[in-house]
Amino acid sequence: MTACECTGRSFEEVELRMRRDGLSVIEAEGLTGCGSICTACLPDLRCYLGRHERPGPRAPKECVP
Ligand code: FES
Repeated sequence: MTACECTGRSFEEVELRMRRDGLSVIEAEGLTGCGSICTACLPDLRCYLGRHERPGPRAPKECVP
């Protein structure tokens, strides 16, 4: 998946917001709603965003495409 079907937001859009506002993955999910409705996109979203998250204890594990 490359987008959250429930919210209509692309992962790229969420990533841009993350970078612009200095958000963690969890913060970006909370603010956009992505991954919080049916959760089907959550694994792919976290993998996608995890590549761009600032280092910290909540950073997701490395994803294998
Ligand atoms: S597809 Fe993202 S929450 Fe449903």
